[in-house]
Amino acid sequence: MDVAAKPDSKVGVVIVAAGRGERAGLGDGPKQYRIVGGKTVIRRSIEAFAAHPAIGPIVAVIHSDDHALYAQAAGTLAGRVRVVEGGATRQDSVRLGLQALREAAPAKVLIHDAARPFVESALVDRTVAAIGERQAALPALAVSDTLKRGGNDGTVSETISRNGLYAAQTPQGFPFWPIYAAHMKAHHAGKTDFTDDAAIAEWTGIPVRLVEGSPDNIKLTWARDIEMADQRLSGAHFPDVRTGNGYDVHSFEAGDHVWLCGVKIPHGKKLSGHSDADVGLHALTDALLATCGAGDIGTHFPPSDPQWKGARSRIFAEHAASLVRAAGGRIANADITLICEAPRIGPHREAMTAAISEMLSIGPGRVSVKATTNERLGFIGREEGIAAIATATVIYPGEVSA
Ligand code: CTP
Ligand code: MG
Repeated sequence: MDVAAKPDSKVGVVIVAAGRGERAGLGDGPKQYRIVGGKTVIRRSIEAFAAHPAIGPIVAVIHSDDHALYAQAAGTLAGRVRVVEGGATRQDSVRLGLQALREAAPAKVLIHDAARPFVESALVDRTVAAIGERQAALPALAVSDTLKRGGNDGTVSETISRNGLYAAQTPQGFPFWPIYAAHMKAHHAGKTDFTDDAAIAEWTGIPVRLVEGSPDNIKLTWARDIEMADQRLSGAHFPDVRTGNGYDVHSFEAGDHVWLCGVKIPHGKKLSGHSDADVGLHALTDALLATCGAGDIGTHFPPSDPQWKGARSRIFAEHAASLVRAAGGRIANADITLICEAPRIGPHREAMTAAISEMLSIGPGRVSVKATTNERLGFIGREEGIAAIATATVIYPGEVSA
């Protein structure tokens, strides 16, 4: 059969869906009929091909028990897809699907697992483009994990180099008649242990070209895979991002320096307070505590407690950060605004950013220190004190339920 004689012919597709999905758990029925993101898995797989302009005849291979499930899942696409019953193994199901395509005799065929609903059209394009007259195309991903062989005693017997190793995906692409002949040959030879169709091509000497697979093109195998796919598609993924704010004010008294955001700045007065009166760090501490419902600075460091007399306020900010971390939080951003007529903050801003970055163990790019005057208005304008507001953004594990 000269496939080059029909260069513009459409590509045939066999979608195998006759498995029972035992590993995904049988309770909710075969996995290909489960709903992910509001649609059945098999419907997604069929749509990926039916919507592609290069695709011609499509055969779905289903289990004899599943006709009603299939009809419901295929819905309006039923007329676009030919349905045949599969066999006891995936290999049998593929062979029966290929037999159903003989009449249409497409030059090229793609063989796809219904359980891979995330196949993208670019992957279909790459695979189809690599099919030759005597060449198969296999989308695959280079193995990234280190591979071990386990011994009978449960210990590792060997580390296997992953160099040159690939994990095979579907759709796998073939010139139609050669793969059909290869499947029939395997069937008649009683060879039933092929786990994919590329292996049958290899066995009959059809070279298989590797094409870049897609990390999204996963096979839904376990119940967890289906749950995760459903969450991803349902948009039910609301990361637990929380924002806390804090405000503080301290008045001036006689002195020669102020502590602001962890930096000691010479000044004609000092801020009055039990601790070092670092108004910026106090606001920040409250903002951090607010993200995990941990009260405020006074809950943890009561001014009535003599041990905090003259304390460095970085202790408070560090403690708040440690509570956030203990709750599983990661601090994404800390933003502080100092409101004062003097001292000038600009020359110290970098040192403040560095100090806070160190206290919270986050990169300096996640810290922002800003300052503004109060336009000479009110108590701040009269230089009776300094105020600070702070905002902290923290990402906690898990999700916010919808
Ligand atoms: N398949 C098939 N006929 C079979 C066995 C499998 O058509 N006799 C199909 C499955 O429906 C699936 C694809 O081959 O779309 C890949 O197989 P797999 O992920 O192993 O699915 P199941 O065999 O259904 O799952 P399990 O092995 O967990 O029972
Ligand atoms: Mg199986």
